[in-house]
Amino acid sequence: MITITNNTINAYIDEHKERFINELFELLRIPSVSADPKYKKDVLRTADIIKEKLINAGAENVEICPTAGYPIVYGEKIVDPKLPTVLVYGHYDVQPADPIELWHSGPFEPVIKDGKIYARGACDDKGQMYMHIKAFELMMRTNSLACNIKFMVEGEEEVGSDNLGTFVKQNKEKLKADVILISDTGIIANHIPSITVGLRGLSYIEVEVTSPNRDLHSGLYGGAVANPINILCEMIAKMKDSNNHITIPGFYDDVEILSDEDRTEMAKAPFDIEEYKKALDLSDIHGETGYTTNERTSIRPTLDVNGIWGGYTGEGAKTVIPSKAYAKISMRLVPHQNSAKITQIFKEYFERMAPKSVKVKVMPHHGGEPVVTPHNSIAYKAASKAMENTFGVKPIPVRSGGSIPIVAMFKTELGLDSVLMGFGLDSDAIHSPNEHYGVFNYLKGIETIPYFYKYFTELSK
Ligand code: BES
Ligand code: MN
Ligand code: MN
Repeated sequence: MITITNNTINAYIDEHKERFINELFELLRIPSVSADPKYKKDVLRTADIIKEKLINAGAENVEICPTAGYPIVYGEKIVDPKLPTVLVYGHYDVQPADPIELWHSGPFEPVIKDGKIYARGACDDKGQMYMHIKAFELMMRTNSLACNIKFMVEGEEEVGSDNLGTFVKQNKEKLKADVILISDTGIIANHIPSITVGLRGLSYIEVEVTSPNRDLHSGLYGGAVANPINILCEMIAKMKDSNNHITIPGFYDDVEILSDEDRTEMAKAPFDIEEYKKALDLSDIHGETGYTTNERTSIRPTLDVNGIWGGYTGEGAKTVIPSKAYAKISMRLVPHQNSAKITQIFKEYFERMAPKSVKVKVMPHHGGEPVVTPHNSIAYKAASKAMENTFGVKPIPVRSGGSIPIVAMFKTELGLDSVLMGFGLDSDAIHSPNEHYGVFNYLKGIETIPYFYKYFTELSK
């Protein structure tokens, strides 16, 4: 094994970058949408391709591990059992591409425009996951892999990672490692690197409100029968007060209160509210009284309607009182809230709040627990040094508003901390039309990852 240097890394990337991009394109062309059964074959095919890519890069014992849902691709390279082991996690499934008509080019026809790769999954998470396979290839080909690597790439992250949870519980020996390394988050800006040290948890719930047993003529019955859409809207509106405080009794009971010092420290991260508004075309910001925008999206929990439907939404007008109304509601959770408990108190509140004139059903979807990862560990320091090396600036630790449910389970089931060394930008439009990922970010990731292995191994001694 030789110690990796700037020269080795840069020369290898320079020589192979076009191929790195082409190979990513190959993955991006497959619509591996885990939420929609119509793409089942594509999701499975993506797993096969990842397996091939891992083998080609030099991984051993590569296998497709079946689950009750989509499989997990596993592979490893054990250079010496006495050396530390890094378990790399990523996901090969993507969000649905809709609304498709808002894409400027096909969601599964990747193109580069202005230095950015446009496609569903370009950033979340095919692009970021594939950086790890290419960085691994680089270390294998240049004989510079400093420690052991295990890869675990799943196909159900975007639908809650339920089967990965089971897999982790059943494969503790196989997954034995010293730390988990994940690129599925972002940095503040290309000139302001950051490392994510917190993720929010999630409770996701679908509700159904039923009033009459069939759709009714709104003239004959209107005014005398509860309209389930009106009722649902009233119920949702009652869930927040005028300070945008969530009104579910007990909702804030377990919320971690940060010290003034911590909040002052957090506020040092560069942030420009005017730019933020401009980027989203907002005339004003909105949120819980007493907290900054960054706090609202990181250390505070939320309740949001993700979708609402019912009644007539077709062409023209139809005068009708619908029988049913529906909504999908999600709550983002912070330490030390618990997703099962929050789901339960939501359910009780929603059922209690409903007027006698309607029937309600509350159907929980997936959930996930919030996490905070250490920012003084060897692994964090290795990631920080690696990024400082390649960005020329020391990264800032930040808490993110997003969720990766498996990260909390890695801690509880495997006893392992994760390092969330992502390279995306909030402006990459993940989950939105025209998702993209900078070629700069893709290559910067491939460049940075080998340093992580180097420093992690050195600092572990
Ligand atoms: N990679 C994202 C999460 C993310 C993105 C965290 C950016 C921090 C910064 C992940 O794929 C995701 O979208 N997670 C879902 C949760 C899941 C249960 C559907 C989310 O956060 O909505
Ligand atoms: Mn992701
Ligand atoms: Mn996602």
